[in-house]
Amino acid sequence: MFDDPQSPAWEPLLAAAWAARDHAHAPYSKFQVGAALLTTSGSVFGGCNVENAAYPVCLCAERGALSAAVAAGLQPGGLLAAVVVTDVAELTPPCGACRQALIEFAEKLPVLLANRSARRLHRLENLLPHSFTGGHFR
Ligand code: THU
Repeated sequence: MFDDPQSPAWEPLLAAAWAARDHAHAPYSKFQVGAALLTTSGSVFGGCNVENAAYPVCLCAERGALSAAVAAGLQPGGLLAAVVVTDVAELTPPCGACRQALIEFAEKLPVLLANRSARRLHRLENLLPHSFTGGHFR
């Protein structure tokens, strides 16, 4: 299902990501990003980027969505799929920090990148090979 970028299963995630993107606070970059995450309990969490006059304080859409999911009870292993949407021609993969944040919860997470006319599907493990696992903390 989530190995096919054209599957209708993506539609609720795409809708949530576009809806969240409408609320992006991006007055500095003018680059609005939306994200959505589907959990194994069937919940969809949206996120948008939240910028700040102090540029390094900016939050990406993906980590905003992740924070909402964790606050609602997401545990490692509990993510089924992710979507990232922008309306520029070049599809936008998650930044390095967001890849690391997401991989904590699902190594093989299907990540669909989309704009108004195109889609591309990745697996998180391919976007972030050899991630830091923190195994020595456990
Ligand atoms: N941004 C995201 O929200 N997600 C990404 O995957 C890449 C970048 C945001 C951060 C910042 O607000 C703007 O895009 C420009 O970098």
